[in-house]
Amino acid sequence: MPRTLEPELQRALAERVRYCHEMGIYDFYRRESAFPDETLPPTFQSELREEMSPKKSAAVASIAHSSLAAIAVNPEQGVSDPSAALKMIREDLGDCTRCKLHQQGRKQIVFGVGNPRAELMFVGEGPGADEDAQGEPFVGRAGQLLNNMIKAMGLRREDVYIANIVKCRPPGNRQPERDECETCSPFLMRQIAAIKPKAIVALGATAAKNLLAINAPMTELRGRWYDFKPAAGDPSWPGSRLAVTYHPAFLLRDPRQKGEAWKDLQMVMKYLGIEPPKKPAEEAR
Ligand code: URA
Repeated sequence: MPRTLEPELQRALAERVRYCHEMGIYDFYRRESAFPDETLPPTFQSELREEMSPKKSAAVASIAHSSLAAIAVNPEQGVSDPSAALKMIREDLGDCTRCKLHQQGRKQIVFGVGNPRAELMFVGEGPGADEDAQGEPFVGRAGQLLNNMIKAMGLRREDVYIANIVKCRPPGNRQPERDECETCSPFLMRQIAAIKPKAIVALGATAAKNLLAINAPMTELRGRWYDFKPAAGDPSWPGSRLAVTYHPAFLLRDPRQKGEAWKDLQMVMKYLGIEPPKKPAEEAR
């Protein structure tokens, strides 16, 4: 029968893991030379080995030693080329099985797409059937509308970066659940930290609530700027500004709200210094 860790040790470990998360450290890597396991109390060693995989037990052992030197930060940390950093994050994500979505019919992981040096990033909720099939966010009907919104701003899809709160399709297009968002969002945070966009647009309530950790209706979330900086971000980077607008899928269902969404996008354009493209009639004038 598996034994549990002593409550005091459990508390200390939980505290240390929380501290690491606040510092933007989510993954722990084994460094052989940094784990003098034999210095651990014997009971602790056996309890760890019984309960956890070797990789995890090594990580927790290092935490128990309170030795931050034994913990490697995210592999892309210090990599200044955003394209290289994104590749490293993608590699680290691997064929992810960290949450239950990997067993619920996803075909592939939908990592994100666009310009690694984008000034503007859009974050949606999660892949739908088309995105799951093609491995790219926002390629279905909602994606067509998002493309039109980007074009109306005077930008091209290739200019911006597009990602989602979760990278695997929730079955039947249900909303991603809390544990799924929490498991996936460290990777999104690392993507944001690599790209360092000037502005982020959260598409819909799920994206907004997860990014901002605020539970409020869309009417309250929209129409203002939020300061946003992932914990994993470069200390010399001041962070992004984040705006919230309606999800394109919602706008397809209720096109009367398109005017409101356009107001949100105009706020973003003003901040980024983007002039909307002239209409053909204006150009002719
Ligand atoms: N809806 C989303 O939130 N994301 C996508 O990628 C597609 C549809």
